[in-house]
Amino acid sequence: MTGMVENNKISFASIKENFFEKFEKMPHAPLVEAMLNYKKAPMTGFHIPGHNRGCGILPEFSNLVGSDVLSIDTTDEFDNLGTLHPASGAIEKAQILAAQAFGARKTYFVTGGSTIANLALAFAATSPFDEVLIGRNCHRSVLTGLIISGAKVNWVIPKKLSDWAIFGNIEASDVEEKLKNNRNIKLVWITNPTYEGVVSDVKKIAEICKRYKAALIVDEAHGCLWNFNSKFPKTALELGADAVVHSLHKTGGAMTQSSMLHISKNSKFEDEKITHALKLLHTTSPSLLLLASLDAARANLQSQNGRKMLENAIENALYFRLEAKKIEKLHVLSEDNLDITKIFLKVDGLSGVELEYILEHDYKIEIESASDEGVLILSNIGNTRAEFEYLINCFKEISKKEYPKKQINNKIMPLIDPEIVMNLREAYFAPKEYIDKNNAVGRISSEVVALCPPGISILLPGEIIKKEHLPYLFSYEKIEVIRE
Ligand SMILES: Cc1ncc(COP(=O)(O)O)c(C=O)c1O
Repeated sequence: MTGMVENNKISFASIKENFFEKFEKMPHAPLVEAMLNYKKAPMTGFHIPGHNRGCGILPEFSNLVGSDVLSIDTTDEFDNLGTLHPASGAIEKAQILAAQAFGARKTYFVTGGSTIANLALAFAATSPFDEVLIGRNCHRSVLTGLIISGAKVNWVIPKKLSDWAIFGNIEASDVEEKLKNNRNIKLVWITNPTYEGVVSDVKKIAEICKRYKAALIVDEAHGCLWNFNSKFPKTALELGADAVVHSLHKTGGAMTQSSMLHISKNSKFEDEKITHALKLLHTTSPSLLLLASLDAARANLQSQNGRKMLENAIENALYFRLEAKKIEKLHVLSEDNLDITKIFLKVDGLSGVELEYILEHDYKIEIESASDEGVLILSNIGNTRAEFEYLINCFKEISKKEYPKKQINNKIMPLIDPEIVMNLREAYFAPKEYIDKNNAVGRISSEVVALCPPGISILLPGEIIKKEHLPYLFSYEKIEVIRE
């Protein structure tokens, strides 16, 4: 690539000058810095993406997202920004800094969310017919990964918090029991924390896995902040997991779809296998915007300012939890071991879905999710104390009102123990038919039916459909089952 665009000619010296003037105190973020240089010294481009820094795009869209964003919307390989597969240049440097920040041996940036990270781990760590032990509350991407690999799933069912209709922690003793009874299990894969913030004893589970020579993967998608404030639970990378997945885009301040996959310092896994799996499953055109947002999120969390934001998120959560206790009819989930920034709550007389509706329509509040029982509110690094004060005032008002019952389809979370009769992959690829859901009880599902968010499976290929599943299938007229 040669030739600078005439009107945008800027000398490198002046870029450096402006850059350091403006960002003297910016924590080191090599990819963000490379992108800044890329933006300030544009080349004449004859490459993908064809919109060419926003010139070939619908003007209304350009106005909507801002021409600055479009001017740096590029993929790897160009303009000395580095490549993702294999990692090189500024991207590699950013990954190394992330590994140091999170306490990993190696960290991979992923632009397809934790979904791709989980698929890659399943692909790299399991082979057809391998026996694996999975927490039933896993995200459906773990199961998609196992459909690809053909590994055989054994379930460990987390504690059921029936009053809240959610899964709680996974008991270490249950993991031990499963490993003791099936010595072929070579991999344990758990989700920690749960979507609602409940934390398992990962240290104990990791010790048990070591004793039984099983690897441990922890899907810590919802716990990516933990290494940056000691008030949080300890991270699985510290507690002995072999690999850990973090959705930096969920709570870490990165842009949507940006995640990290970490290999721990003493991991059993071979880096090469994971590198290879990621390369096969990942897009070949990773968005530099998303990759840079991972570098920025890491740098922010390590910076003084970022630490302050995190401290505020914790303080705001504590403030809310304290004030909530004073409000009649309002109940907040408060398990012993919890990520307190995840606030799962309910109000007497209202389903979670009704409460979500009221918050949205009467108070213009958007929450993370609603279930039959309650709603999930996140105290994020981007929230202010004023927002939490407003929220508390809203709940004070809501708790005093009488609401008429509305006809809203509730999202029921049936905590049903699965009855597995076929291997996941075998069932997924078996001949199928669509039948009326009312005739489906007793048949073998070939569908993944999952509650989204958070993507926890209600019914999987190879499992018997029970009458308890039917209320959840309210949006289905027909369901796909294995042909008899
Ligand atoms: C525990 C868990 N793992 C993985 C994922 C997938 O994450 P992503 O949306 O980043 O692909 C989710 C999504 O909600 C999740 O809750």
